[in-house]
Formats: sequence, structure tokens, C-alpha cells
Amino acid sequence: MTSDDDDVPIRVDFRDPATARAWIEDTRIKRPYRPRFLAAFCAALTSRSKLRILELGSGPGQLAGEILVHCDVQTYVALDFSPAMHQIAAQHLGELASRVTFVTRDFREPAWPRDLGTFDAIVTLQAAHETRHKRHLVPLLERARTLVAPGGMLLYADHYLTPETGLPALAPARADQPLALERAGYVEIQLRYEEGCMALWCGTNEFRRSAAQSKAP
Ligand SMILES: C[S@@+](CC[C@H](N)C(=O)[O-])C[C@H]1O[C@@H](n2cnc3c(N)ncnc32)[C@H](O)[C@@H]1O
Repeated sequence: MTSDDDDVPIRVDFRDPATARAWIEDTRIKRPYRPRFLAAFCAALTSRSKLRILELGSGPGQLAGEILVHCDVQTYVALDFSPAMHQIAAQHLGELASRVTFVTRDFREPAWPRDLGTFDAIVTLQAAHETRHKRHLVPLLERARTLVAPGGMLLYADHYLTPETGLPALAPARADQPLALERAGYVEIQLRYEEGCMALWCGTNEFRRSAAQSKAP
């Protein structure tokens, strides 16, 4: 027996190569709106230059490919716990893969941010629910913020709860998605795109005034 407070066991294990490939094909058919999310991520990033980007749960590299083609990227770190997904991503990206650092790491481990560096943007698409319970969303976004430069941004997209949601413990209510960014310390939270019960939210890691600045008249 499990209660709503328990983590939801992994049912689709993306570390299995056949499962990873099946998910990609299934998702292409079931979620035809995904290209519009990829475009919305790029639109949110295009005003900035020399971007240092970290993607959480990067999977088959579709978002990385779009961002590398359409945005001014200096460095791109793709984090995923599945070596199979990284292999698929490298194939998908072709020559662009040489511009990506693939990191195999589990973002359910609290120490996942260790030694990753500092980023102008952290992006994540359809992956944050893989913490396996919505109560882990704020801690994930908080830890991510420790890696975001002042004035840098988080772009978070995932499904929200509807009456049809199969595993309600994984999906926050729509209103709780921007609240999660706020609780994790982001400011200027904006909705960038929404379709198919999925929303893309943007939050900024605010500039902190130094002690000297706050004492200035
Ligand atoms: C639903 S797929 C989405 C992939 C990609 N973001 C996209 O939308 O194309 C979820 C991804 O998260 C990865 N993932 C699942 N659990 C993870 C964890 N605990 N740590 C890091 N990555 C994880 C999976 O391997 C998979 O690539």
C-alpha cells in the first residue's frame, strides 16, 4: 500500500535503452505540441548572449539541439541519470554534440549540483516530476538556484494536475507551479507558454545588493 505522501516508484526506467527509445517515439505521437515548447524556451533565451546553460533531465537532446541552433550559447551542460539517453542525445545532436558536456547524475541526490559551475540559465522540460513526488519540486529548484548567476534564469516546463492525471502525486496544481519557483527564491516569475496541460515558467535569480551597496545613501 502507498499513500499520497509516498514517492511514486519508477515505472518507466529511462536507463533502459529500449524504454528510452520507445518513450521518444510515443511522445512524438502523443505530444505534438512539444516543438512549440522548444520554440518558447528559445524565445525566452534569445535576448541574451554567451549563455552558460544547464539542462536538467536532458533526455534525447531535443531541447539542447534547438537551443544550440537558435541561441547564443557559450557552454551547454546536459544532466541526466541515463547513459542510454545521453547516447541517444549524442546521436541526435551530431556535430552539435561536441559543444555539449554530458553529465550522468541523479537529481534526486541532494548533492547533485556539486562542482557543476555557474549558469546564466537552467532549463528543464518534462523532467522535474522525475523527482518522483511533487513535494520534491521546491528543493530541486532551490538547489538549481545555487548554480544560477545573479540575474540568471530558470526555465521550467512540466505537466500540471488535471482530473485526468494518472499519478497525481507527481503533478502540482497549475497554480502551484509558479508558487514553487517563488518558494525556491526566484523572482519576476512569468508564464512563457502553455499547451496540453503543460506550462513553461520563467523565474529570475535576483541580483543581491551587497552590504556596501545597501549602506550607500
Ligand atoms: C520524460 S523524459 C524528458 C526528457 C527531455 N527533457 C525531453 O523533454 O525531451 C525525463 C528525463 O529525465 C531523466 N531522469 C529521470 N529521473 C532522473 C533523475 N533522478 N536524475 C536525472 N535525470 C533523470 C530521464 O532519464 C529522462 O531523460
